[in-house]
Formats: sequence, C-alpha cells, structure tokens
Amino acid sequence: MKNKRFVSATVELLNQLLNTDDITEALTGALEMLTNLLGCEAGAVWLQDREADRLAAVCQYGPVDFTNMSAENGVGVEGLVSRSGEIMVVQDATSPDYPGSLFDDSGIRVQNMLCVPLKSLTEVIGCIQIVNSQDGTGFDEEEQQLSQRIATLAALTIEEKEFTVSAGEKKKVLIQLRGITKDYPSGEGFVHVLKGIDLDIYENEFVVILGESGCGKSTLVNIVGGMDHLTDGSLIIDGKDFSHPTETELTQFRREYMGFVFQQYNLMPNLTAQENVQFIADLVPSPMPAAEAIAKVGLTDRADNFPSMLSGGQQQRVSIARAIVKKPRIIFADEPTAALDYQTSIEVLTVFEQIVQAQGSTVVMITHNPEIARMANRVVKLRNGRIASIRINLNPAMAADLVW
Ligand SMILES: Nc1ncnc2c1ncn2[C@@H]1O[C@H](COP(=O)(O)OP(=O)(O)O)[C@@H](O)[C@H]1O
Ligand SMILES: [Mg+2]
Repeated sequence: MKNKRFVSATVELLNQLLNTDDITEALTGALEMLTNLLGCEAGAVWLQDREADRLAAVCQYGPVDFTNMSAENGVGVEGLVSRSGEIMVVQDATSPDYPGSLFDDSGIRVQNMLCVPLKSLTEVIGCIQIVNSQDGTGFDEEEQQLSQRIATLAALTIEEKEFTVSAGEKKKVLIQLRGITKDYPSGEGFVHVLKGIDLDIYENEFVVILGESGCGKSTLVNIVGGMDHLTDGSLIIDGKDFSHPTETELTQFRREYMGFVFQQYNLMPNLTAQENVQFIADLVPSPMPAAEAIAKVGLTDRADNFPSMLSGGQQQRVSIARAIVKKPRIIFADEPTAALDYQTSIEVLTVFEQIVQAQGSTVVMITHNPEIARMANRVVKLRNGRIASIRINLNPAMAADLVW
C-alpha cells in the first residue's frame, strides 16, 4: 500500500521536474510531497555554492524562514551529508551523536531527521532534509529509499538546468516577523486567522505572497503595514520594535516607511492624476517631485487628467505613483492587478519591476495568480494562517514574459 503511494509520488514528481521552467517551484513541490508522505513537520533543500564552499537553502516546506541562512560544508547534518554523499538518519536529536543542524536555529525543535544527498552523475550538489516524523514510523528502509530516489531525480534535473546558487553575502533584513498571530472575535470565541508567522523581509527584494482566498494574506500584510494590530508575536522594522506601537508611532512609520497599492485605486475623483500624487507628497518630509513619480509610471502625458478620464490600468499606475512618491522603504501591494485585464496587468507589473530594480525598493505583493510569482525573488505560500513554504526564485522572469 505504502509502496504504491510511493510509486505514484515518484511518477508525479518526475512529471513536475520535467515540465517546469522553474526549478525551485518543482523542488518545493517535491519537498512538500516528501514531507507529507513521510508524515513529517518540515523540510528544506540545500544546494552547494562552489565558490563560497557553503550550502544555501533554496526552498523550504513548513513554518520556518531559512532563506537567509547558509551552512558550512562538512558541518552539521546538512554539511556532512552534502560532503560525504551518504544518507543520514537521526532517530533521536537529543542523542550525543547528533551533529546539529541549522534546523536547530529555525524555531522548530528537532526530534528526528532524515537527510539525503542530492547526487548528480559526477558530484554531490546538496541535500534534502526532512525533520520530525510524526507518524511514529521513524524513517524506515522504504522511506529512505523513496527519499533517495526523489533526491536523485531532483539532482539530475538541477544539473541538467545548470542552475547555481549563491550563499554569498547575507541579505539585510528590513522587517522581521516572529510568531505573529491574529485572532478576531467571533460569536462566543475567536477565529485564529494567523497562527504563528516567522518571516524575514529583506531590503530590495520582490516578495510574492501566494495563497487561497481567506488564508490570511491581507491580514498579514495589514499587520506588517501598520493597518491592523497583531495579537501575539513580534514585529521588528529596521531594528525597531513595532509589535505594539502607539498611534503616533504607527502613523509616522506608515507615512515614512510604507507605500500601499490595493485592488481598488482609491483616487480622489476631483483631483487630477498629478494632484492625487501631490496630495500624498505633501504629507511627508522629503518626497520625490510628484511629476517624477508620474513619469516613473509612464503617465506624464496624462498628468492633468481626472481619474474618470483614465483607464483602470492608468488609474492603478496613478495609485502606484502615489505610493512611490513618498520614497518608501517598502511597498505593499494587495492584489493590485485583480481588477485588470491581462495586458494592463503586465503594464502595472512592469512598473513594480522597475521600482524594485531601479529604485532599490522592497515590494511585497499579494496575489492568487501563481504566474505572477515567477517574477518574484522569493515566493511565500500561506495556507490556513501559516507559512506553507518559501522558495527562492533563482531566475525571476520579466513581467513582460508572464502569460496567463
Ligand atoms: N475584521 C475581521 N473580523 C473577523 N474576521 C476577519 C476580519 N478580517 C478578516 N477576517 C477573516 O480572516 C480570514 C483571512 O482573511 P484575509 O486575510 O482577508 O484573507 P486573504 O487576503 O488571504 O483572502 C478570513 O476567514 C476572514 O473572514
Ligand atoms: Mg485578501
């Protein structure tokens, strides 16, 4: 019975790996499948950075954020397996023989672990690590074989796609979320909308948050953006604790740090495009000139139009100009293209792309369109109030190349 499930899983994985342009998406899928098949809590895929002689996490499954961590070759479980090419099973992480792992620093309490090498034809290119078997079987022979088989398929695909990782410099963390929960009162009790979110958001990255409707995406972004209060946990922005800000702190940090773009454009109908932008510029100490923000979204020739004279896409570009005119450190965009047709969506996404590339801003974009995730540096998947997985996109697509 188990064997049959394992065979279909392998076939499914093979399909995913062969048919993807996006290797980390396929690897995340493989990791998710393996973690669930083995009844485990979390997993990660580590790859060699030959230049730095270190390992970098390219994706993870489960409620941790590894994407800024790197492991030393030959040290800890992931380092040992990636050097020796030998599978390693830890049945009891409290035993004195346990060599330690980066998982120990992740917030997950390691009880047991399986780590299988990613072996291409010629070398060991990293490892797949799965922790905390909950189903009581540990990691039996059959499970080890399955994992090794999946790792081999993954390794061959990675080698074939010739993709490389960098475990180089650490990214600068702009926003740090730890154990964030959010409850809303409901009837007699509470609904737990966010159930413990651990995540770092870096300077100058494009993060896409994916997840089904109702999983907590907007709630999360509203908390990080200072539009809602967290129930528990900590929120650190640029080194300052904003877990429980005062109203004054909140207004100030929202004003100076953050830009917002929503599905609805929320423009003032009696002001022109440029006046809508100027109105926001007047609220902050050192904005960019409103005309410059209008130019950055390609609307100079429409600057004097009122919203009613503009198309949906143009109105959304005005709302982006309004967000960037403050020169914010971070821009949150909640389903910014949900109301737009394909062509207009691409125009709007191209503007975001330029903001990240040319201005060095950080953009956190919520969407339920997985195709948009292809242009992100990192993709965070939420499921039912928790982080389901995070992956690094090693080759983000250009907005213009997205198709749906
Ligand atoms: N103010 C609120 N009061 C009660 N429940 C809420 C409130 N805001 C959101 N929720 C609930 O929280 C869950 C997540 O909502 P949301 O974050 O908007 O999801 P998403 O953006 O992923 O679609 C939903 O079930 C929603 O009904
Ligand atoms: Mg939402």
